[in-house]
Amino acid sequence: MTTSADQNSKALDLSVSFADIALKNPVLAASGTFGYGVEFEDVVHLAKLGGFVVKGLSREPMIGNPPPRLWETAAGMLNAIGLQNIGAQGFLEEKLPRLRQIKDIVVIANVFGYTREDYERTIEILNDGEGIAAYELNVSCPNTASGGLQFGSDPRSLDEVVTTARRVANRPLIVKLSPNVTSIAQMAYVAQEAGADALSLINTFVAMAIDPETRKPRIANVTAGLSGPAIKPIAVRMVYDAAHAVKIPVIGMGGISKAEDVIEFMLAGATAVQIGTASYWDPCATEKIVDELEEWCTEHEISRLADLTGGMQLE
Ligand SMILES: Cc1cc2nc3c(=O)[nH]c(=O)nc-3n(C[C@H](O)[C@H](O)[C@H](O)COP(=O)(O)O)c2cc1C
Repeated sequence: MTTSADQNSKALDLSVSFADIALKNPVLAASGTFGYGVEFEDVVHLAKLGGFVVKGLSREPMIGNPPPRLWETAAGMLNAIGLQNIGAQGFLEEKLPRLRQIKDIVVIANVFGYTREDYERTIEILNDGEGIAAYELNVSCPNTASGGLQFGSDPRSLDEVVTTARRVANRPLIVKLSPNVTSIAQMAYVAQEAGADALSLINTFVAMAIDPETRKPRIANVTAGLSGPAIKPIAVRMVYDAAHAVKIPVIGMGGISKAEDVIEFMLAGATAVQIGTASYWDPCATEKIVDELEEWCTEHEISRLADLTGGMQLE
């Protein structure tokens, strides 16, 4: 027997798409908070998610920063993991074969480097891997060839790195913007003009904390990236500004921990969203948010979630 609740859920369309990638729902797990996906296989029904972004990959493996690397703040978290990873080749050999066996899941590879050549080489290696839907370019790294300024904080460096990545990438390119800038709209536009197929934002804010007793920094690296609910209102504003500056789709993130947060980002202009720090508090957060979204849409008689993108009303 079919109940009216069944009919409602059948009519509900949570699917979204960007850069020719179709997602069954807009919820992606964010880079650095979901390992390489395989580690969450026993905890989360991966196929329930729109997809996930793997930990940032570089041309060679990296061991990351010394501990302490994490510190919980009011409504947030500081991290200075230092982009520890198994390297692009290690990912292709050790993780991707297993990921390819999991059906119906979109895998996005996050890429970073310290020079343009690093990004170029990492993408060239990953181009050989089957089953990667897109690249997400993390531009929040210091550009060692230009005095250590973040690629994503300088329009010229951003233009160069995105142009380079676009030239070598054989897949859609998502550029993940740094929030550590004066004008996110300007950076969004620069990334679009350099060839980005979509944008994702925001990465973490540079921040720090000090222990008053020991007078030592809470994080061995001294500065760290702030994430979690504390940054959400700024992230929503930045997504709104970026979405109004470009024609390409925007993927929003920063402090999302429940379905209403997803709706808020979509109303600000996001096509899809990513969930990061929430997975530290609850490893099943991504999956739970998908369930909550379904309930929210049913309660609010929304039949097609994608219609909410950019739907904020001023009056
Ligand atoms: C522990 C940790 C590691 C992260 N590692 C990466 C990374 O490797 N590459 C990247 O682009 N972003 C990385 N991020 C940033 C997140 O993907 C996300 O942009 C940010 O945390 C904001 O979202 P949230 O508030 O939901 O966590 C990391 C964040 C955390 C908390």
